[in-house]
Amino acid sequence: NTHLSFRSPKMDLETALKGCSTALGFFLNNRFADALALLKPWRNQSMYHAMGYSSILLMQAGMTFDPHDIDAAMASLRESLQTCQRFQQCHKPVRTFKSYIFGAAYNIIVCKLLTEEMHAELCYAEVLLQKAFLTFLDESIIGFIKGGMKIRNSYQIYKDCQALANVTKDTEKQKSTHIHFRGGVNMGIGSFNLMLSLLPSRVLRLMEFLGFSGDREVGLSELREGAASNSLRSILSTLTLLIYGTHFLPSGTGEGNLTEAEALLEPYKEKFPNGALILFYTARIALLKGNITFAQEKFLACIAAQEEWRQIHHLCSWELMWAYSFELNWREAYRYADILCKESKWSQAVYVFQKAAILSMLPEEEVTELGEDVVELFRQVDGLRLRIAGKSIPTEKFAAKKAQRYSSSNPVKLAVPALEMLYVWNGFTVVGKRPDLTESILTILEKAEEQLRDDPDPSEYHVDDQCVVQLLKGLCLRQLGRLVQAESCFNHVISRSSCSNAILHNELIRHLICRMNYKDYNMESRLHFRIHAALNTMGSFSAKLPPSRTPA
Ligand SMILES: *[C@@H]1O[C@H](CO)[C@@H](O)[C@H](O)[C@H]1NC(C)=O
Ligand SMILES: *[C@@H]1O[C@H](CO)[C@@H](O)[C@H](O)[C@H]1NC(C)=O
Ligand SMILES: *[C@@H]1O[C@H](CO)[C@@H](O)[C@H](O)[C@H]1NC(C)=O
Repeated sequence: NTHLSFRSPKMDLETALKGCSTALGFFLNNRFADALALLKPWRNQSMYHAMGYSSILLMQAGMTFDPHDIDAAMASLRESLQTCQRFQQCHKPVRTFKSYIFGAAYNIIVCKLLTEEMHAELCYAEVLLQKAFLTFLDESIIGFIKGGMKIRNSYQIYKDCQALANVTKDTEKQKSTHIHFRGGVNMGIGSFNLMLSLLPSRVLRLMEFLGFSGDREVGLSELREGAASNSLRSILSTLTLLIYGTHFLPSGTGEGNLTEAEALLEPYKEKFPNGALILFYTARIALLKGNITFAQEKFLACIAAQEEWRQIHHLCSWELMWAYSFELNWREAYRYADILCKESKWSQAVYVFQKAAILSMLPEEEVTELGEDVVELFRQVDGLRLRIAGKSIPTEKFAAKKAQRYSSSNPVKLAVPALEMLYVWNGFTVVGKRPDLTESILTILEKAEEQLRDDPDPSEYHVDDQCVVQLLKGLCLRQLGRLVQAESCFNHVISRSSCSNAILHNELIRHLICRMNYKDYNMESRLHFRIHAALNTMGSFSAKLPPSRTPA
């Protein structure tokens, strides 16, 4: 049992868990370097220190995209896997085979799996999953396949761990180490289910065929259990739920559960009042609730809270850019778009497009005064696009397509680019909560509509522009409860396409689906999906609408 020699007498499992928990506290208090310094010396002896250390390096790499950081994270993940492996007891292939026949209980009975070794399995699965994410950054197809195999392997181990947790004796279940183990299983199984459930259904079915499970409800309930447990990974389950609840809501379904998100965050607000991540989510929730001023304050507080990880500033700048856009304060919105263009490496194409879109909303004198040139900015977009694994990113592609019309020597202006982007990025859910802002947006749209109507020399993009304006106008009217007018706008959009004359809601929706391969105007399928969702919501009002809507 050579692995025993690696165990330090000073670092038993409980001490390791405590150390890791202290480091996590540092991390949540913005003391990132302190957290790393605490974990680093023990990373060869303790799997928890190894896992914590490489997790932070991975996060850093994900934020900076710096090749140097990526290499460092990769090296530390490799070391962490080795550290975990030293604690894995039974000879792996034999164990896997026998537990396949006799079930996971076999591991406990025959292999006499010690608590420590159960935790080693869990940490191994975690680190493996992290390594898979990093492997995907390797651009080749080999990297993609390798990453996929790691994910599958990791999932399998999580399933084993779950089985182990389920067969653990009741007397064992009270132990703090078991609570941490259970929390880790909740976190892993929950995240897997939730992430997979976000995949398109065709891909999900393939994944299920490969043995994965992507059940959203199971995922959420596991994560809720993990968040409620008093374990090392509770905060990670909480953060996963927050990310899902505030960023990944399936579009069109609207709300999400902000009450739940707030309740989840509450205990951490008290414990880490100045923690950057906590401030960020406090702000994000306020923003989604339409409390824009409060959100702005908290995003600014989040920026002021720390200097060590500048990428968190970029996250806040992105959010602030939107928060000011919601208020139609284009001057401030421009400020943050400009900061992103100058400082962040994530997606220059999107940032530059966004900056140009925001500037388009300002009077020309003001743009000149700022020393900017809108046409020049739009022309840069295409050249700034990134490629990940040889593929371009849909959002960047969309921006480039939109910006294309500026490339000619006689550029045609986009009608209301900043408002259109507001829609594409789901901003109308927030704006819709503020009738005053919705009215202001409506006024801008009506002005644009008028300009388009009076255009003496319509360009080839004329129909495009009209559709966008009508669609957005329809959304605003719907938010304001002016449903009949809203519908007339949506109908205008539809009458512009090849299939027309369908006004009844069911018909309308069916037609929108059939028109997914649209010809007349080029917005992404994403947009079609939103119209569909918007009309779906409207469908519930249809009974209340007067029959006069239905044309002959
Ligand atoms: C940990 O192990 C790696 C190789 O496995 C070695 O390079 C490194 O120096 C070790 N670190 C410590 C602190 O012992
Ligand atoms: C939101 O979450 C809370 C707390 O978990 C729950 O009581 C409530 O029913 C949920 N609401 C919705 C609409 O899901
Ligand atoms: C915004 O949220 C804060 C904190 O929850 C609250 O004190 C304030 O009254 C809210 N403002 C509005 C306009 O809802």
